[in-house]
Amino acid sequence: MTSISIRLDEEIGRINPNIYGHFVEHLGGVVYDGIWVGEDSEIPNIHGFRQELVEKLKAIQPGVIRWPGGCFAETYDWRDGIGPREQRPTTVNWWYMNDGKFESNQVGTHEFIEFCRLVNAEPYFAVNATTTTVLDARNWIEYCNMPQGTTTLAQEREKNGSPEPFNVKYWGLGNENWGGGGCMTPEDYCHIYRKYGIISKSVGPDLQYIACGPYEGIPEWTEKFFNKYQEMYTVGRIPPMFGYSLHYYVTNSGNMGSELDYTDAQWYEMIRIGLDMEPFIQSQYEMIRTAMPSSSIGLIVDEWGVWHLQNGKHPLPGKYLFEQPSTMREAVLAALSLNIFNNHCDKVVMANLAQLVNCIHSLFLAKGNTCVATTSYYVFDMYKIHQNAICLKTEVDCKNITYTIDGELHYIPSISCSASVKDGILAITLVNLAIDEDQEVKLDLYGGQCAREGTMVVLSSSSHKDGNTFEEPYKVTPVKHIVSPDVGSELTVTAPKASVVLLMLNILKIRIA
Ligand code: AHR
Repeated sequence: MTSISIRLDEEIGRINPNIYGHFVEHLGGVVYDGIWVGEDSEIPNIHGFRQELVEKLKAIQPGVIRWPGGCFAETYDWRDGIGPREQRPTTVNWWYMNDGKFESNQVGTHEFIEFCRLVNAEPYFAVNATTTTVLDARNWIEYCNMPQGTTTLAQEREKNGSPEPFNVKYWGLGNENWGGGGCMTPEDYCHIYRKYGIISKSVGPDLQYIACGPYEGIPEWTEKFFNKYQEMYTVGRIPPMFGYSLHYYVTNSGNMGSELDYTDAQWYEMIRIGLDMEPFIQSQYEMIRTAMPSSSIGLIVDEWGVWHLQNGKHPLPGKYLFEQPSTMREAVLAALSLNIFNNHCDKVVMANLAQLVNCIHSLFLAKGNTCVATTSYYVFDMYKIHQNAICLKTEVDCKNITYTIDGELHYIPSISCSASVKDGILAITLVNLAIDEDQEVKLDLYGGQCAREGTMVVLSSSSHKDGNTFEEPYKVTPVKHIVSPDVGSELTVTAPKASVVLLMLNILKIRIA
């Protein structure tokens, strides 16, 4: 039997709500037909935004949303997206070569800010640090944040309908600058980061800058970038860094089959790649701390998720670039990744699932009037209780799963877990990673006791290939049960095969040794 000790006496830190963040890029069907349907649409909308999506997204407390890209940001001129909509230019979207779509610029700065306000999220803007100038970036910040009636750009914002400043706090200086964002070396990018940051400071000393870090394939970027950064830091005049961005996709570069067609071994292989997020976070954090021992730079995993690059079946065949169905496999992957972020909340300050709707690892699939919430949506719904809670250390003793792929033997754990406490409620999230076996899990609340009645929420399905589709939009939804802890500090629950489980228990006593 699996046993987990929840250490009520050992706190890891506070779970930043921004760990439950999202990503909206002008790519495929994310913005147009996804969040935005237009004010004149017959689809119910709030000022042009798909109403059902707005309401469902708000309900899961999205924290923060990154925009406008991704790669799209690297050819984006923010001035194309302001002013009367009918006068905005049609431009070539960064992704044009992939799907032949132009950019209408109907969703720009004002619209995106309105979307964030509708769903109660903080905006996180990614600046073009590749093809426009430092002054353009500085001017965008000025346009967004200068008080009413001050500068000409603030007046222009007012003329465009928003007298009050947007107060955008999070600014990513660039995107994937080692690749589509300009093919820079870490040292070159460090100069760019410094230049953009220093110049922009004149329009907002309290901005939270985020620097471009690596994806999992180029971990050494960090060492080189921070060697340079440290050198500049010593000389002075380097902007403070709030966060350092990491991108981590679970992709078909591993042997994980396609969306709906995979073997048991490929299920486990995908989970193994997902679990590797943890050493990636740890090693990246250590590299930063080695170069900058006393800094408080946090990690921002601002693109993550399962990306089936060799597209198989799509919910709307061929309609949107990178659109993919979501099943219990994506739900399990999302849940184990969120457990990793929770358990490293002393290092990870933000994370953004890629991407919100009709795209890579989406929470929604939208077509006409229908907006389907995927299995991963329900994971975010179950996990929202962790936001702002104190994450506790957990000690997991579970059996390992052994599988062979491409002639190589691998071991992975069969359970993923995180636990937090807030307002007297202990929340434990478990993922049973075994594809074919229910697991009895004994939970021991070390250093405390809970009430004799609690709630358990389970997301599972008879087949791990099940998901929510346009034909069956509610096939997989969470189910609630009442549970009764045995002796106040012990509880045994069954986690069905390939499932995500949330337990909520009222804490009666905490005994700190
Ligand atoms: O999310 C899709 C793309 O993946 C993003 O635009 C880019 O940053 C990454 O390579």
